[in-house]
Amino acid sequence: MRSLTLTALLSLFAPAAFASFTGDTSLSTVKAAFDNAGLPAALDINFNPTVLLEVTFPGPVYVHAGVQLTTTQTFPPPSFGIRILPPPLIAPPYVVIAVDPDAPVGVAEVRHFVGSDFTPGVPDVNLVEPLRNSTPACSNWVNPQPPAGDPAHRYTFLLYKQSPDFDKQTVLQCNSTALPIGFNVSSFAAATGLGDPIGGTFMLVAASS
Ligand SMILES: *[C@@H]1O[C@H](CO)[C@@H](O)[C@H](O)[C@H]1NC(C)=O
Ligand SMILES: *[C@@H]1O[C@H](CO)[C@@H](O)[C@H](O)[C@H]1NC(C)=O
Repeated sequence: MRSLTLTALLSLFAPAAFASFTGDTSLSTVKAAFDNAGLPAALDINFNPTVLLEVTFPGPVYVHAGVQLTTTQTFPPPSFGIRILPPPLIAPPYVVIAVDPDAPVGVAEVRHFVGSDFTPGVPDVNLVEPLRNSTPACSNWVNPQPPAGDPAHRYTFLLYKQSPDFDKQTVLQCNSTALPIGFNVSSFAAATGLGDPIGGTFMLVAASS
């Protein structure tokens, strides 16, 4: 019990020093990382995050904006959360979408995840509220499989405030057996009333050598 409390305190008072044990801890750092990576232009999005989205792979392996991870680390489906600091001002439920803009023209964007009805639970020791949903994902996790020789792809996770009729959307056929390619997150978000993303993070993954 004492060590859990200590971890919580350390992550509260020294987020930078313990960054490797959590995801992103600063909205301005996340925004700068997106801008430096050219992601708003690549994805045709306005990215001014107000919520810190936490993406964690089993291990745990924490994603923070621009982290380099391996195909092995990112093979299993990630879990999601939101940090309680700064307080998320935009009410749930939320939609999470993951895309890869770096596949070849005609294939990009590759859709890696679309899930809805996420609501936050009780904060953990890292001051992150786990995001849970009880409805199946519309588009299940597709693990990164960048081709050998490609520079690392920018696998990008975006958090949206869910639009009232999102679960009735017909723009994307849920559970489709079609390949998850030729997706366009900005036009999908516009067509389904999601608006601009309210949070996000990304990871760089290259083929394992
Ligand atoms: C996807 O298919 C699974 C298995 O058939 C089903 O349980 C789930 O409800 C489906 N999800 C959606 C969003 O239709
Ligand atoms: C996605 O759609 C937007 C607007 O409809 C367009 O400007 C952009 O080029 C599209 N992106 C891709 C990768 O096709």
